[in-house]
Amino acid sequence: MRAPLQDAAWMPFCLVWMMMACGGRPALKQVYEKDFFIGAALNLDQIDGKDPKASALIETHFSSITPENILKWEPVHPEPDRYVFEPADRFVALGEKYGMHIVGHTLVWHAQTPRWVFEDGPGKPAGRELLLERMRSHIRTVVGRYKGRIHAWDVVNEALEDDGSMRKTPWFNIIGGDYIRKAFEFAREADPDAELIYNDYNLWKPEKAAAAVRLIEGLRAEGIRVDGVGEQAHWALDYPPIGDLDSALKVLASTGVKVMITEMDVSPLPNPWNYTGADIMFNVEVQEKLNPYPKALPDSMQQKLAARYGEFFSLFRKYSAISRVTLWGVTDGQSWLNHWPMRGRTNYPLLFDRNYEPKPAFNAVIRAAKKP
Ligand code: GLA
Repeated sequence: MRAPLQDAAWMPFCLVWMMMACGGRPALKQVYEKDFFIGAALNLDQIDGKDPKASALIETHFSSITPENILKWEPVHPEPDRYVFEPADRFVALGEKYGMHIVGHTLVWHAQTPRWVFEDGPGKPAGRELLLERMRSHIRTVVGRYKGRIHAWDVVNEALEDDGSMRKTPWFNIIGGDYIRKAFEFAREADPDAELIYNDYNLWKPEKAAAAVRLIEGLRAEGIRVDGVGEQAHWALDYPPIGDLDSALKVLASTGVKVMITEMDVSPLPNPWNYTGADIMFNVEVQEKLNPYPKALPDSMQQKLAARYGEFFSLFRKYSAISRVTLWGVTDGQSWLNHWPMRGRTNYPLLFDRNYEPKPAFNAVIRAAKKP
């Protein structure tokens, strides 16, 4: 996967070539070539080439792609006997065209999964056997279609609570705690060579990192191979504390599986969780406070964001277990954080701005790659 440029004598020529190829800027995927894949989550327009400026950035800077939505259960398998594969076929073809590491996201999750999956006819909950059979046939069909072409799968997404307990999703409630083992078994059956990942958020929290380790080790004790653990990395200026993240990465890496940063974005906006729904909906002052930069991110904030990105990437480079860092989008304009956890904000969580230009955060990430 990594093809290091061994011969130091070539480095100056390579750097010049890289910069010429990218309009005078180094390419992310090249400066991190020896460390990890640099990935981006793609939306449908980007997959379909309808956003040419984004396409240019994707081709130049990223060595891995993940679909933001199209391989989730709801879009890919909306009805029991209907699969919609055309967008995913185009996504995989795009990754192959550029020789990218292609990630499938995600097979078993409680969100963006149609209600019928958990029902045995309208309103009647499905039983364990029916749900297991559905899971198996979904995984066999989707993973099997791209066998050998999608290189890694987020098999189970978000199965843990922050306190380390199992999240009581319909999968858990209907099948029981072994639904995770089953999902990995079915995925392995469908593509023995794919890299199979457990993916979750807030794995920088000690209780949750410990729970992920127990999960992976428990599966291993039952003979199930998990290849990677993904920390989603939806972060902000004030969390996670870098020391906590460092400790968590150490703990996750100690399992011996690869560690991936799978959905990274860093929000520079204030956290709306402290306000109630009514405040957010009807109080103009609160709304302004929570959406403080509707036109542009001020330079002082750009610098704070850049410093955060810089420290994160410097930390990632310390861990040889980290095999991929994927940004959850290409440009700020596309980010889900413009709509969540409250609608209508202007957020700035990624490395390229709304005009497809690299931000100070981009430069900080490049600088982090060059530090010894
Ligand atoms: C979770 C999911 C992603 C995406 C984000 C929000 O992290 O894993 O697929 O839906 O939420 O965009």
